[in-house]
Amino acid sequence: MAGNSFGVLFRVTTFGESHGPAVGCIVDGCPAGLSLGEEAIDRELRRRRPGGGGPQSARREEDKAELLSGVFEGKTLGTPIAIMARNQDQRSDDYEELRDIYRPGHADWTWEAKYGIRDHRGGGRSSGRETLGRVAGGAVAKTLLAGFGIRIQGWTAAAAGVAAPLPGEAGFDLDAAEQNPLRMPHREIAEQALAKVEALRAQGDSAGGIVACSVHGLPPGLGEPVFGKLDALLAAAMLSIGAAKGVEFGAGFAAAAAAGSQQNDRTLRWSAGSGGDALPLPPGTPALRYETNRAGGMLGGIATGMPLAFRVAFKPTPSIAQSQQCADRRGLVREFAVPGRHDGCVCPRAVPVVEAMTALVLADLLLLHRSSRITSPEGYPFRI
Ligand SMILES: Cc1cc2nc3c(=O)[nH]c(=O)nc-3n(C[C@H](O)[C@H](O)[C@H](O)COP(=O)(O)O)c2cc1C
Repeated sequence: MAGNSFGVLFRVTTFGESHGPAVGCIVDGCPAGLSLGEEAIDRELRRRRPGGGGPQSARREEDKAELLSGVFEGKTLGTPIAIMARNQDQRSDDYEELRDIYRPGHADWTWEAKYGIRDHRGGGRSSGRETLGRVAGGAVAKTLLAGFGIRIQGWTAAAAGVAAPLPGEAGFDLDAAEQNPLRMPHREIAEQALAKVEALRAQGDSAGGIVACSVHGLPPGLGEPVFGKLDALLAAAMLSIGAAKGVEFGAGFAAAAAAGSQQNDRTLRWSAGSGGDALPLPPGTPALRYETNRAGGMLGGIATGMPLAFRVAFKPTPSIAQSQQCADRRGLVREFAVPGRHDGCVCPRAVPVVEAMTALVLADLLLLHRSSRITSPEGYPFRI
């Protein structure tokens, strides 16, 4: 089955190649009556588009959303929502040499090994440009989630081996993240990291990094055990992003070295008047919260009501200007420097993509959760 669609009830399909006429998405399953305009989508697309300075590709795209269907007089119709952005600054000639060469670290050869044909221009559909459709679909999902008070925020936690402070640590400043080209939550550390990325770039090289994401306002209960666990779906969503190579939740891989007593979050009861009474829990279930959040906001694949906290590791951008050993169509191995305009580090542009994929997972789970139990007007259990 072709892997171009994501989600069960809130389902997004992305389309388009990097140097084709357009890229975009179709969102099917968005409930009717949601206020939605192009501005909400454009806002997210602006955060993803290249040309933002620093390590970002110099490709200049307007990335203006065209909302083709599914919205009437500013409200969703419950019908498929088609969103498209035209490709404008392709410069396909830069990529002519890639017709017969397979870049190391990129997907040129594997796509050809699978399909027997590929659009070599700008990486075709294995390009970071495909993520525009995800961000457009994610903007619709974010709009839906905002109505439930659910807010998603991503940032670059590390780049080129330089790490920003963690949330709660001195100097952690999320406002700063949207104001520097690496999207790091600390101005000086962002400058240090940028200097390292630029130094690598000057040598024709590239850098990797870590994108962190947190979600606030998520009610307890989201997640569909056992195969639709919240962490399982988020991991699949994150690892579907180009160059993403690892995901950790809460304490993450450090939990493997911790004792149980160090890993478990101490449980607290919501105190009266602190908002816990408003949580949408089945009658008789007490409202709980946790003193710490090493679980990353989920247990058993179900949201605890604490903030979701996870991190995604991104490898260095594979297309680099330095000469590397490549193979060509004839099977000959030779030295080759990759042409074209590429991101020196994908992290800052991956931040809105991570947020979008998170929104798509949560919007889908929010709709699915509504089928997980039945309550009668008098309470639980339902009587027929
Ligand atoms: C937002 C974004 C931008 C990217 N920009 C580039 C780029 O400019 N050049 C490049 O070679 N790879 C870029 N990538 C990474 C490739 O898409 C990815 O490495 C490739 O598809 C191979 O997949 P894999 O690394 O997951 O195995 C980008 C990825 C993302 C998410």
